Amino acid sequence: MVPSNKVIAIDGPAASGKSSVATRVSKKTGFLHVNSGLMYRALTWSALRADIDTNNESKIIDHLNSIEMECIKSNDSLLLHIDGNDPGEELKSQEVNRSVSVVAAIKEVRSELVKRQREYLLISDIVMEGRDIGSVVFPETPFKFYIDASPEVRALRRRGEGGVDDLRERDKLDSSRKVSPLVIPEDAFVIDTSEMDLNEVVEKVLSELNNKGLIT
Ligand code: C5P
Repeated sequence: MVPSNKVIAIDGPAASGKSSVATRVSKKTGFLHVNSGLMYRALTWSALRADIDTNNESKIIDHLNSIEMECIKSNDSLLLHIDGNDPGEELKSQEVNRSVSVVAAIKEVRSELVKRQREYLLISDIVMEGRDIGSVVFPETPFKFYIDASPEVRALRRRGEGGVDDLRERDKLDSSRKVSPLVIPEDAFVIDTSEMDLNEVVEKVLSELNNKGLIT
């Protein structure tokens, strides 16, 4: 890690609003926004396209090693291209939603993607969102947030986005897997956003970053 580069870690369950918060915090701080979930989604999307059974761990690992996952910087965030293709909105399809947590539970997949996630810090200060950013990817960062909301509110938000997503099933798999499950990091600043709007959440995050001396 380049000692002078900093990371803001934003974790939380599905549809908790992490991406919206991370996007706004990235704009405010100028830090590069990295959505680690997109990497697990891109691998899942590519495996499904190649007709690979997502429950077949060794085939998924071989597939990860055979594809080129390229990150393209677009404004302040990153797009992922797989073997030169842009999956676009397909990363958020029902099929990917249904299989991504199974793929993300594979130990070898996590160790490889965590390694790539850590490499981002070599190029920039970053805001990274995910499930294990504060607990596993960057446990050393002092800037950790856990964004939560009640299951009802999260389901409502996802429906509002038009997505079909079994949040309960994904949460269950993400929280119960053996390798780096979704947890609240001990030293994270927890925000229950169930009764807050986006502006209020972002203000809270920025005020905490200000208290910690990261921004003025
Ligand atoms: O954040 P998003 O809901 O797009 O993530 C999709 C899936 O990727 C999660 O349900 C989880 O299985 C996996 N994921 C993960 N670790 C991360 C980010 C995402 O396991 N850091």
